[in-house]
Amino acid sequence: MKTNDSMKDENVFYPPKSITRKANVKDYETVYKRSIEDREGFWADEAKKLKWHKKWTQVLDDSNKPFYKWFTGGKINIISNAIDRHLKTHRRNKVAIIWEGEPGDVRVMSYHALNREVSKFANVLKSMGVKKGEIVTIYMPQIPELPIAMLACAKIGAMHSVVYGGFSVEALAGRISDANSRVLVTADGGWRRGKVTDLKSIANDAMDRSPTIEVCITVKRTGQEVHMENDRDFWYSDLMSLPIASPHCKTEIMDAEDPLFILFTSGTTGKPKGLVHSHGGYSVYTSTTHRNVFDVKDEDRWWCAADPGWITGHSYMVYGPLINGSTVIMYEGAPNHPYPNRWWSMVEKYGITILYTSPTAIRGLMRFGEQWPKRHDISSLRLLGSVGEPINPEAWRWYHDVIGRGECPIMDTWWQTETGGIMIAPMPVTPLKPGSATKPQFGIEVAVVDENGKDVKPGEEGKLVIKAPWPGMARTVFGDPDRYVETYWKEYEKQGWYKAGDSARIDEDGYIWVIGRIDDVIKVSGYRLGTAEVESALVSHPAVSEAAAIALPHEVKGNAIHTYVILKAGMAGSKKLEEELRKHVSEEMGPIARPESVSFLESLPKTRSGKIMRRVLKARALGVDEGDLSTLED
Ligand code: PRX
Repeated sequence: MKTNDSMKDENVFYPPKSITRKANVKDYETVYKRSIEDREGFWADEAKKLKWHKKWTQVLDDSNKPFYKWFTGGKINIISNAIDRHLKTHRRNKVAIIWEGEPGDVRVMSYHALNREVSKFANVLKSMGVKKGEIVTIYMPQIPELPIAMLACAKIGAMHSVVYGGFSVEALAGRISDANSRVLVTADGGWRRGKVTDLKSIANDAMDRSPTIEVCITVKRTGQEVHMENDRDFWYSDLMSLPIASPHCKTEIMDAEDPLFILFTSGTTGKPKGLVHSHGGYSVYTSTTHRNVFDVKDEDRWWCAADPGWITGHSYMVYGPLINGSTVIMYEGAPNHPYPNRWWSMVEKYGITILYTSPTAIRGLMRFGEQWPKRHDISSLRLLGSVGEPINPEAWRWYHDVIGRGECPIMDTWWQTETGGIMIAPMPVTPLKPGSATKPQFGIEVAVVDENGKDVKPGEEGKLVIKAPWPGMARTVFGDPDRYVETYWKEYEKQGWYKAGDSARIDEDGYIWVIGRIDDVIKVSGYRLGTAEVESALVSHPAVSEAAAIALPHEVKGNAIHTYVILKAGMAGSKKLEEELRKHVSEEMGPIARPESVSFLESLPKTRSGKIMRRVLKARALGVDEGDLSTLED
């Protein structure tokens, strides 16, 4: 892998003995080698750690590439693993979820209690006619009923489509329509920075726009006044107190390849796409990576501070950790409410041992200074994690030195909604280089290549590809298999590789450095947005005729959205209109999509075929060379 000399030259952090001595994986190189040489054997061994209702007949079925199937013939339900099997062990009375609301209210649930809530809600869903394979849309704040609703769907074989609670009307309406959902689970609101959010009224507007919803179940979280429609709207608590909500519910036995959920994510063009993940492969992949990367032990207190509305929350707040029988921490609100010590007070209070969060959150908390974490005893932490965007070395060091006392290794994890789980990341035994996600996970073969698929030289930038299938991979784009092929598999069709859409480089030691997206996907605070979505939100305003959105660097958010619009004839740009357009995007899509700036232009740089050349706008904004302009229209 390396010569120790070259590793010494750089800023390399070696994990402390206290961690390596007890690590779940002690010899990464040997296991990795085996996992590549005998990929199917490796995954079969991992799959054997789970409860199957019937064993698979084939580990990998690649007869219809790129629509790979895993563990075919096997019968499983992710709930049999995430809940049911724990009930027969010492974990029955182990704490499954510790939740803290922003106002300070706390709920603690054992696996036994979680099972009761999930079973009750599963029966409620059944009583509403929810069937196997149907998609239930979930639009909620971070309260325990969110994972409960997800798990209840999975238990009865329905799929869930969780829409991030920070999204707004247009985003929610579009996702409900695409999923053709009949049932929506939501809440009256949630708490954020001491204020209540307006989830139910957004849900009401979205239901007006997408009329497929027949039943809307609302959790009372804030108690604010909300409009409830007769015959359509029900209070969660009312339904849960009826006899139909029995705490006994059979877990539906599913085929390994049966879909578990869809999750919409932004792509290069058009509307967000719903990635489909399945019961079998996803169970194996999330639990394996959670155990290996985070070295999870039974006594850990695991906090993934992501929102369940994103893939990180699905895989590492809900499914992976519950399959591994972990105690999961959940927090509803803002990290700096009422003061910037909120997270650190929670680490101290609950004795959290592993914290997994985003570079944006770290940079945001770093700004407040180290006096806030210093007020607390956070020495229970033994491992830290980062996800969602590259972590800059400055934030890495702060995280490592101030939060991790210079002792906690940082697991910088690279992956995507599409990959289902972590693909590139260290394990606690891996020497670390700040800013590098280090090495591929077991069974994962990564390369950085040029257009022709040739490996670029060490240190050179190229396209990140995955050379072979893995169990956690998305199976398709919901309702649009062609788009799945087109987006991920077309470019390296000959080689059969998956194109990640990121650029990266690999250094002399084989360490992987992910640089960022090479398409029109923007990462704002680690959230994934498409330029196309922001542009269509702008164009939906009556004053706008055309729009372009680009990402420019931002100190805390990583990137911020900057937009350019051409107004309709007779309209004039002004500070007031700029403000109005920013607000409009925020109302349509959600506050995370609010542009940092709106500039008014007479024309947009386009190719002769009419495609907006966003890179030209970006180069101009940054004052750098505009590059090859030969395809520019004028
Ligand atoms: O550009 C990469 C970036 O996030 C993208 C995937 O976004 P999403 O599907 O929302 O999933 C995020 C959480 C898994 C990637 O294509 N990304 C994610 N993690 C990292 C990263 N970039 C650099 N380093 C990371 N650790």
